[in-house]
Amino acid sequence: CGIVGYIGRNEATPILIEGLEKLEYRGYDSAGVAVYNNDEITVRKFKGRLKVLEENLNVEPLKGTLGIGHTRWATHGEPNDVNAHPHTNVKGDIAVVHNGIIENYLKLKDWLIKEGKVFISETDTEVIAHLIDYYYEGNLVDAVQKAVRRMEGAYAIGVISKKNPDKLVAVRKDSPLVVGVGEGENFIASDIPALLKYTRKVYFLEDGEMVILDEDNIQILNEFGVEVKKEIFEVTWDVESAEKGGYEHFMIKEIHEQPKAIKDTLSPRLGVNNEIELDNIKLSKEDLEKINKVVIVACGTAYHAGLVGRYAIEKFAKIPVETDVASEFRYRDPFVDDKTLFIAVSQSGETADTLAALREAKGKGARVLAVTNVVGSRISREADDVFYTWAGPEIAVASTKAYTTQLVAMYLIALNMGIKKGTISKEKYNEILEELKTYQQKVEKLVETKEQIQELANRQFNNQNVFYIGRGIDDHVGKEGSLKLKEISYIHSEAIAAGELKHGTIALIEQGTLVIALATQEHLFDKMLSNIKEVKARGAYVIAVAKEGNEEIEEAADAVIYIPNTLDELTPILSVIPLQLLAYYIAVTRGCDVDKPKNLAKSVTVE
Ligand code: G6P
Repeated sequence: CGIVGYIGRNEATPILIEGLEKLEYRGYDSAGVAVYNNDEITVRKFKGRLKVLEENLNVEPLKGTLGIGHTRWATHGEPNDVNAHPHTNVKGDIAVVHNGIIENYLKLKDWLIKEGKVFISETDTEVIAHLIDYYYEGNLVDAVQKAVRRMEGAYAIGVISKKNPDKLVAVRKDSPLVVGVGEGENFIASDIPALLKYTRKVYFLEDGEMVILDEDNIQILNEFGVEVKKEIFEVTWDVESAEKGGYEHFMIKEIHEQPKAIKDTLSPRLGVNNEIELDNIKLSKEDLEKINKVVIVACGTAYHAGLVGRYAIEKFAKIPVETDVASEFRYRDPFVDDKTLFIAVSQSGETADTLAALREAKGKGARVLAVTNVVGSRISREADDVFYTWAGPEIAVASTKAYTTQLVAMYLIALNMGIKKGTISKEKYNEILEELKTYQQKVEKLVETKEQIQELANRQFNNQNVFYIGRGIDDHVGKEGSLKLKEISYIHSEAIAAGELKHGTIALIEQGTLVIALATQEHLFDKMLSNIKEVKARGAYVIAVAKEGNEEIEEAADAVIYIPNTLDELTPILSVIPLQLLAYYIAVTRGCDVDKPKNLAKSVTVE
């Protein structure tokens, strides 16, 4: 979910709506605002996209200079008007927006019902409004402080009260919240893009901190109610980088941004003689001697980057690596200790599952390295070291440029470990880095082959099931390709290690089934060819992805997408590009909402 809040001298509603537009990537099941005016708080909230709310506000504008807003990704209670935020107490004089989950809400709800409070929604958030009301004795700050003491779970909340119309109060714990510093006006939001039109000056809040805003002042209190002084963070990136800039969708814009994102992530880390400078990450020879295991944990696309990371670290640095999805990791009593290097990969740096896994590993003594795209994000702050992917803001829910830059990060970390440990030869090391330096051009060239892929998409958009097959790192890339297709086109798809196909999944191949076969690995090519023949023999239509110059594949597959010739170890950064484009064009042909696929959110801050 995304939350915003405004207090100042200007009309709040347009500012809240602008902010929510920038936060819609965080969820879009419903949207709402609460605005104070003339001793009244008016709430407007509707199921569906933000535009439903906007249309209502156009017809019946809401005046007032204090307000809060919300865009929802449903957790507790189906997306409908009643469950949409803001929520209020019975009298409607306190309004709350919330991102997160209140884990003890049922207990609190039972108790509040006994205290005479009447609930109308199924949400955990409504509990917060009643709880603040319960403690309210004329001072909103006191009441919020008492309420949060009773709340367990994760939250970022924004609260207004008609009895204290000179204040906007917000608190965070384990859910993101930034404070925007204006002149004669101040803001809160879940993420920076919501503020950029109005200010570049922000405060980040720590867990348990509360902020009290009026038009001219911002006061931040820690969890004990003691005032804390903070430094203002100046945002340096521009508004345009979070806008579509002539492209039809953010996703295709971000696919096109990959050459630059790769260069921006790679070149600041490379010296003239290919020495890798990993910011200030402590990975000296001595540090490495203390590590006997690496654990990479992430979710979704970042997890797929972690799979390639495992391959690269094991191959170049010869350290055993486990890669796991974050939501599973912490519940399997993982074997982690002070000899473990734990790598958390997360575009947003705020995914709740990944954060929880990181804390689990830290608690067991592991050294934590974060690979993230968002400076100042929670995960970046809790990690011991951070490697930033310089992909720029990624807005489309389906991740593209974050993934390719995460791959670059993984290779750099692995090569750096390998050369220090002496487990990779200087020649091989240089060869790989020289090749990586050509990737800006190679990816550029690949993106330009989009017409061929668009044509394939025009013919293949109507499948019920799609299978991605590959071996080794090709299988890892297949998993990412398959996820892209599922996410945005709603076609069921599955990625499976090509050799495993015959042990079950091949039963699903029938006349016309689309199979995407990744065949970029020379030492596995003959085996892949057999697998392609196996599915062809059962009627599959095969689109192969192979390296330029490979003609043999043309006889086996129905269509071939070529990637530029390259080293086998590095192919994922190239072979994923046509898969991103294929998913994109299939989704566009099917008329899907590419940037905001149903049921998903870009950044999932609940476990
Ligand atoms: C969500 C998004 C995915 C993303 C995953 C992990 O599920 O829809 O696209 O890969 O979260 O996000 P992170 O920000 O941690 O990389």
